[in-house]
Amino acid sequence: MPDFAELHFNGEVYKLPVVEGTENEKALDISKLRGQSGLITIDPGFKNTGSTTSSITFLDGEKGILRYRGYPIEQLAEESSFMEVAYLIIYGELPNSEQLNKWKVDITYHTLIHEDFKVLLEGFPSNAHPMGVLSSLVTSLTAFYPESLDPVRSADEVYMNIIRLVAKLPTIAAWAYKNEIGQPLMYPKNDLDYCGNFLKMMFGTPAEEFQPDPVVIKALNKLLILHADHEQNCSTSTVRVVGSSHASLYASVSAGINALWGPLHGGANQAVIEMLEAIKADGGDADKYLAKAKDKDDPFRLMGFGHRVYKNFDPRARIIKKAADDVLNKLGVNDPVLEIAKKLEEAALSDPYFVERKLYPNVDFYSGIIYRALGIPTNMFTVMFAMGRLPGWIAQWKEMRENGEPIGRPRQVYTGENERDYVAIEKR
Ligand code: SDX
Repeated sequence: MPDFAELHFNGEVYKLPVVEGTENEKALDISKLRGQSGLITIDPGFKNTGSTTSSITFLDGEKGILRYRGYPIEQLAEESSFMEVAYLIIYGELPNSEQLNKWKVDITYHTLIHEDFKVLLEGFPSNAHPMGVLSSLVTSLTAFYPESLDPVRSADEVYMNIIRLVAKLPTIAAWAYKNEIGQPLMYPKNDLDYCGNFLKMMFGTPAEEFQPDPVVIKALNKLLILHADHEQNCSTSTVRVVGSSHASLYASVSAGINALWGPLHGGANQAVIEMLEAIKADGGDADKYLAKAKDKDDPFRLMGFGHRVYKNFDPRARIIKKAADDVLNKLGVNDPVLEIAKKLEEAALSDPYFVERKLYPNVDFYSGIIYRALGIPTNMFTVMFAMGRLPGWIAQWKEMRENGEPIGRPRQVYTGENERDYVAIEKR
């Protein structure tokens, strides 16, 4: 296999080195192309363009493979915990018991947020979407921890920035929810684990002691693990580009939260439930909505279907679909939209439009059904995605800074007006 490709252009031949990864993926290194040939490449949406090399997550879209630091997602989802997976993704190795205990203790003792966050929260109208509140309050961490503005000043401070963000995000998320529904804010309790603490802050009230259901805690752990990283997706690429300007970890993650919010990305889990509810309200006719999804003149898309990378199946969707049945059975929940989702999936997987375009259920198609069964309100679904994706954003930001990557600044091809002279307004 040659270790370069040749580009023949304008009578010249340019050699482009081939970069090969540990899973035999190959890429053309075009980092010197413009200097040698004056050419740049163009690839809207970066569908064929790699932005970096990374050792965090491996995906194979054709084979439906997803591994965090080499460990298959199926094993981690069944046997690990979100705290352990977060450590693995950020530090590259599964923690031993001493490392895991320190990680959990450090996080537990940083779950409180400054009382002035209440002042910030009160400034939001009650109809504020929790994702906007979350990104705003994550950015505000830079005000409460100004030393984080020089994010790589020392290894200890990098560790504390990470601990504070992992520890405080659930508290911020739960407070955003309580502020929206007008209930008293609940404080974290150090005798609860990460997921149990979040559930207590979400659903507990001063009126009665809230005991999180172990079934719900287990299901939430699994969902957060399944969302923990996904290589260079839209929001992670956003975190890396913002971080490449040497902005703080908190500012970079806040940008990632905003990118995740879009309905084509993490916002799809909310859009899926809204779509299923609309189909149910309209009589549950799956075929009618598949026809709308295929109609180029109809803006309707089958939310939760399709993926930039997975062209066979999204391994996370398979795990979540099975978990949805398990959790709803254990909780005794009968959700009619689950049956509508299954009918849609079955119909789509035998429809030439979806088969030809390799459109399969993605991570967002069934996750909302479980979140709803856990009692999570629909407009908090993408907040749950953000909580799961946090270790990935942190790890990718950390890798980019440790590798000393340059500031992200793509080129363009200009297609506007050629030079022309200014015309005084009297003459226009
Ligand atoms: C996530 O990148 C990641 O890793 C993301 C993620 C992660 O963990 O970070 O996995 C999480 O974001 C999952 C995706 C959630 N989004 C949705 O479910 C929204 C619905 N899906 C799409 O809009 C779409 O499939 C994307 C955005 C997911 C992918 O879009 P691409 O890769 O840019 O593909 P495309 O839009 O060019 O579609 C190719 C064809 C088009 O038809 P033609 O022009 O070829 O005729 O497929 C069609 C599209 O119209 N198509 C759909 C469709 N998705 C694609 N048609 C109907 N319904 C859909 N859902």
